[in-house]
Amino acid sequence: MRQARNRRGQRGLFLTLEGPEGSGKSTQMLLLSAALRKAGHSVVSTREPGGTKMAEAIRDTLLSATSNEPITPHTEALLVLAARSQHVAHLIRPALARGAIVLCDRFADSTFAYQGFGRRLPLSWLENANRAATGGLMPHRTLLLDVPASIGLARRRSARGNQNRLDRESTAFHRRVRQGFLTLASRAPRRIKVVNANRPVEAVRAEIEALVLGWLRTRGCQTHAR
Ligand code: TMP
Repeated sequence: MRQARNRRGQRGLFLTLEGPEGSGKSTQMLLLSAALRKAGHSVVSTREPGGTKMAEAIRDTLLSATSNEPITPHTEALLVLAARSQHVAHLIRPALARGAIVLCDRFADSTFAYQGFGRRLPLSWLENANRAATGGLMPHRTLLLDVPASIGLARRRSARGNQNRLDRESTAFHRRVRQGFLTLASRAPRRIKVVNANRPVEAVRAEIEALVLGWLRTRGCQTHAR
């Protein structure tokens, strides 16, 4: 089994997929993890909020709350970060230490996009709280699957029974989230690569696979499809 290791000998590779609702992240996660496994890599696929037993319990609370006690933006942010702290400590860091490629469906950029740009919490507060929760761990590379809010929401709403509490937010909220992601990408162009997800699955898959295999090569980690 190949281990991801960069030229300085650091082990593990932390990749995240980000994007607004209905951007096709989950499908692309499955395709990418299958391609990387086929190329001989040890891959850990996970998601946020979630990834450990406690973090998944927090996810349920966060996404399914329908009571007449609305969740405040600060509660929402702190729950997401509590889940992340568990996830980083008990799943992500140990997997990276073993030299695995960790593929994560959403991470800190979602907090900045949803709770920062969407809920309008101050980004500086979120960045500090996120740093405290993660011990400063950020992805090596991020793929931002970009799709206009109206198209993503329509995709999501047509997938019946698949809507969570945040899906039901206004279109204006989802537009701010999408713009937020694009702003984050423009501020970190080396880490975050924007992929146009408003295309057939196969076209998106091919671009993602080429990008990730290219990143692995620049880390000095060769891959040959078997
Ligand atoms: P999804 O990944 O299945 O689309 O659902 C996760 C939801 O959680 C999505 O609506 C975005 C939201 N979320 C946040 O609001 N902040 C975060 O930091 C993360 C990771 C997710």
